[in-house]
Amino acid sequence: MTSANGVLGFPEGFAWGSATAAYQIEGAVSIDGRGPSVWDTFSHAPGNVRGGDTGDIACDSYHRYREDVALMASLGLKAYRFSISWPRVQPGGRGPANPKGLDYYRALLDELGEHGIEATVTLYHWDLPQELQDDGGWEARDTAERFAEYAALCAEALSDRVARWITLNEPQVVANNGYRHGQHAPGLRDADAAAAATHHLLLGHGLATQALRAQGPAEVGITLDLHPIRILGDGHPGDLEQARLITDAMVNGIYLEPVLYGRYPVHAPAAMLPAPALVADGDLATINQPLDFLGINYYSPIFLRAGDPADLRRNEEPARSEVPGVVEYRPDELERTTMGWLVDADGLHEILLEVSKQAPGLPLYITENGRAAEDYVNPRGEVDDIERVRYLHTHLEAAARAIKDGVSLAGYFVWSLLDNFEWAWGYQKRFGIVYVDFGTQRRIPKSSARFYSEVAQANAVPSLPATWPR
Ligand code: FCB
Repeated sequence: MTSANGVLGFPEGFAWGSATAAYQIEGAVSIDGRGPSVWDTFSHAPGNVRGGDTGDIACDSYHRYREDVALMASLGLKAYRFSISWPRVQPGGRGPANPKGLDYYRALLDELGEHGIEATVTLYHWDLPQELQDDGGWEARDTAERFAEYAALCAEALSDRVARWITLNEPQVVANNGYRHGQHAPGLRDADAAAAATHHLLLGHGLATQALRAQGPAEVGITLDLHPIRILGDGHPGDLEQARLITDAMVNGIYLEPVLYGRYPVHAPAAMLPAPALVADGDLATINQPLDFLGINYYSPIFLRAGDPADLRRNEEPARSEVPGVVEYRPDELERTTMGWLVDADGLHEILLEVSKQAPGLPLYITENGRAAEDYVNPRGEVDDIERVRYLHTHLEAAARAIKDGVSLAGYFVWSLLDNFEWAWGYQKRFGIVYVDFGTQRRIPKSSARFYSEVAQANAVPSLPATWPR
């Protein structure tokens, strides 16, 4: 795989793509019959999103999809992961499809097809129809059933144009940020609601997978955000190891184990698990559908060390596991992005190996990986995002190493194609390989877009010039 000049080759047919999500890029929120979603409601309520930003216009991709597809094609990208806005297809989350909503996605898929770009389609990237939220959202079991009906409508109309379906994006973030801690829509701070949402999201995944398969052959998977849990310091006293097991269950296992094995993890705190009355007979078997692939979003690991949560030191935070004598810690030596997220490419290698140990042979896709940076247009009119180039380089190196170590990694989708609406951070955080001037909607490919384009076209990661900062 590694040639003499340090170039890392990838397997033939490896999918090189970029990723986006409907609410983050489409705009056009009240056009062609689209209903409101929880993110419209949440972003319009004062105080929820930095600067009062909303997705009302975003990247205006609803109108500019042809330009965006042409951009991907010009970069030599062969795969695109986007999401369908549920309230475009079913404005209130129930009943017959809104034909104009489906027309839009059909047109987008046709445009992709004409440019030889394969589509990976996420059905739920967080924009629940507001009417379903009014009836309880994911706290209500009915939402899982509605989700399966919506999945069936999408499959019936679009499956001939879709290579791969992803049911949910990051249910962990929906349950924790949306229902437990309130930074995301619907903005609840309610532990019981979060535990119920966890179960109903997973059930929705299982039911939607069945519904997609009932419409004919389809590749179906789910995307989970996975985080390696690392222990800092020498030796692993029992309480640190216990904290590692609990933290891993809280952020990874609660989603991974039901999906892969049909059970909730033994180390998960009881308060995070659905009340027994919510788990009907057969639910876990429904959740445990055979998968064609698993999508992994990787950004950062979680570090634990011995410490006193009542007397925190610099870079320490109370441990979510609440194990006495343990704190979470952000090592000084690791770079942080403008989100405050730690940069640690080895974590990607680690999580890929861990998942392939847990699900031997299951094809894996990195469905998101990328970083925010302080991007700006320089006087030459260019955006020279060297931090992002270096980030992509080190993470792709880690991915290549994982493949060499036996992981069946089939593709990589950089987050994101475009700078976009970064949820509670609004437009303050830029993740794109393409810069978006939100005033004019002009797209400017950054240095990282050129670097990534080279990778995609060569199916290999070149070594960086020695002059690049490491
Ligand atoms: C992930 C989300 C994605 C984007 C990135 C930065 O958690 O799936 O929409 O916001 O983070």
